[in-house]
Amino acid sequence: MPMLFEPIEIRDLKLRNRSVVSPMCQYTAVNGVMNEWHLNHLNTFGRGGFGLVIFEATAVEARGRITHGCTGLWNEEQLNAMIPIVANVKSTGAATCLQLAHAGRKASCQRPWEGDAALTEIEFSKGELAWDIVGPSDLPFEEGWLVPNQLSKSEINDLVDTWVKSTNLAIVANFDAIEIHSAHGYLSHSFLSPISNKRTDEYGGSVKNRMRFTLELVEAVRAKWPVEKPLFIRLSTVDGKEDGWTLENSITLSKELKALGVDVIDCSSGAIAAAGINTLPTPTPGYQVSFSAAIRSKAEILTQSVGLITNAAQAETILRAGQADLIALAREALYNPFWPLHAAQELKADDNFNLWPHQYGHWLGLREQGVFARRPGEINN
Ligand SMILES: Cc1cc2nc3c(=O)[nH]c(=O)nc-3n(C[C@H](O)[C@H](O)[C@H](O)COP(=O)(O)O)c2cc1C
Repeated sequence: MPMLFEPIEIRDLKLRNRSVVSPMCQYTAVNGVMNEWHLNHLNTFGRGGFGLVIFEATAVEARGRITHGCTGLWNEEQLNAMIPIVANVKSTGAATCLQLAHAGRKASCQRPWEGDAALTEIEFSKGELAWDIVGPSDLPFEEGWLVPNQLSKSEINDLVDTWVKSTNLAIVANFDAIEIHSAHGYLSHSFLSPISNKRTDEYGGSVKNRMRFTLELVEAVRAKWPVEKPLFIRLSTVDGKEDGWTLENSITLSKELKALGVDVIDCSSGAIAAAGINTLPTPTPGYQVSFSAAIRSKAEILTQSVGLITNAAQAETILRAGQADLIALAREALYNPFWPLHAAQELKADDNFNLWPHQYGHWLGLREQGVFARRPGEINN
């Protein structure tokens, strides 16, 4: 059996295979509420055979949305819309994970296809107003972006409570796992990185101090999240900037996260600052695999690799080399939502469409045998 199709158990959760849909914002919610688009989008990946489907970055409060189209989980309307979507995806045999997020100083933006920068008069004229944003320091992400209000200590405590409330709602929604978004320049990552965190109190300065917010957050969420359910965290494992957050820092942090009950480190990178000053190399296939490999071996924790992993043999090689335990796909899953089912055929883990939903597999198996139906007398038989 190829490793990609070996089930894996994390706490009490058993995933049918190692393929994961990476969280992908759809910028299609209204007031943070999911709708039919999200249902269809996520259900397709379940039918496509993924082991785990991670729901997009979902804000713990209105201030924490990236755009007006981002999903949220801080009220009942959002919860009620989410419950049937979680149940639906689970009915396909996939497990579900919610990425809980706060955009911090990168909040209050345009949708990517509208410009991907601070909101402008064009959005204001459509009633999509800017809102006050927060961060570890009053430094904007980039020139022309909103200046965040520096969070006070009591506001930091309140924010941790906000995450716990969303965790409570995620329990009601019946998610199998939670992933804390601590990457891509959003709030938690912006506390970790010296590029965005210029504080002089116990939340800034040394690496230990910069890790404090993330660790407090994780501790509070883990205390609320059922012990039998896994907790993931996504890190930007490197900032890609000389004086930024480093892989060594991520290894140190991962050891602490493990001690607090984090089960999987989802290894991404970058996006702490505008592209112009980001020194990460142009992405090549598997460009973040070395990060998941280093964290897996040095912090001795399960890792998820992501980033231009597009074919079955590549995914299998990463797993066999011990460079990651889970393989996440984002854009390739958009291109081919049935990627795991095709990968299973390529890796010879499914010789007769047995892994496919039987409503599809029945016909495809017969087509493979050169027949249309098994009924005697069938014209194509
Ligand atoms: C449409 C889109 C939305 C994304 N939204 C999120 C998100 O909500 N949270 C997150 O951590 N990463 C997000 N990402 C990053 C992906 O999860 C992934 O890490 C990245 O695209 C690299 O993987 P890939 O090469 O397989 O696309 C998004 C990427 C895309 C293309």
